[in-house]
Amino acid sequence: MNSKKYLIANWKMNKTVEESVTFIRELLKNSKLYKNEVIICPTFLSLDAMRETCLKNGIKLGAQNCHFEVQGAFTGEISAEMLRSLGVEYVILGHSERRNYFGESDEIINKKVKAALESGLKVILCIGETWEQRNNGQKLDVLNNQLKFGLKDLNSEMLKKIIIAYEPVWAIGTGKIVTEKEISDVSHNIEKFISAEFKTNFKCSFIYGGSVDVSNVEKFLNLSCVDGALIGGASLNADKFRSIINISENLNKI
Ligand code: PGA
Repeated sequence: MNSKKYLIANWKMNKTVEESVTFIRELLKNSKLYKNEVIICPTFLSLDAMRETCLKNGIKLGAQNCHFEVQGAFTGEISAEMLRSLGVEYVILGHSERRNYFGESDEIINKKVKAALESGLKVILCIGETWEQRNNGQKLDVLNNQLKFGLKDLNSEMLKKIIIAYEPVWAIGTGKIVTEKEISDVSHNIEKFISAEFKTNFKCSFIYGGSVDVSNVEKFLNLSCVDGALIGGASLNADKFRSIINISENLNKI
């Protein structure tokens, strides 16, 4: 089991700058430095305001998206370089909400992955099947395709900067969760895929996301194949997120 776990908060389009700053103050009340990798991904607007407190306390900052060009006439967009210059270390790419609501194809996601890595960001690449695809027996094909095209043109060295997040679309924000066996099977399938595609035994970091909360996070983190969790709803409340982090911090203490 990888001893260091990732606890990644995906805030989506929530919290004003003021609310973000209040959250981080509340989260860190009486806290010590965490041994696990705690990453908060607020909106772009809150990154700068949260930066100093987060970095001083060992919390990493992540963004929820970036553009694939470095700069230029791309109204409304933010580049990976710009994020790096703010002290951002991670970026979430390929989230199902970006794929579904903003029409991001695997090709666009792949361009973003490459741009992010080139700028020195680490990538949290989300993959996941819909309920329909799952029921049609297409799950593994869908996941393999998202990986194949999302990771296109990367070399095995670059894989070290990628965290693969398995987020079944039907489990996001619904309270529905997958079985531990399914998560292990998906992780095993990804290992097989990476080894065949990249001719390497390197195992990418693998995390689970989709309705993770205080009551179930331990079960996921205890799976030997799971290196962490991507947490949406339950990361918006400082007490809940602190409880989740504390559960992860106590995991190996027995
Ligand atoms: P959720 O979201 O924890 O609210 O299900 C997870 C995500 O979308 O990353």
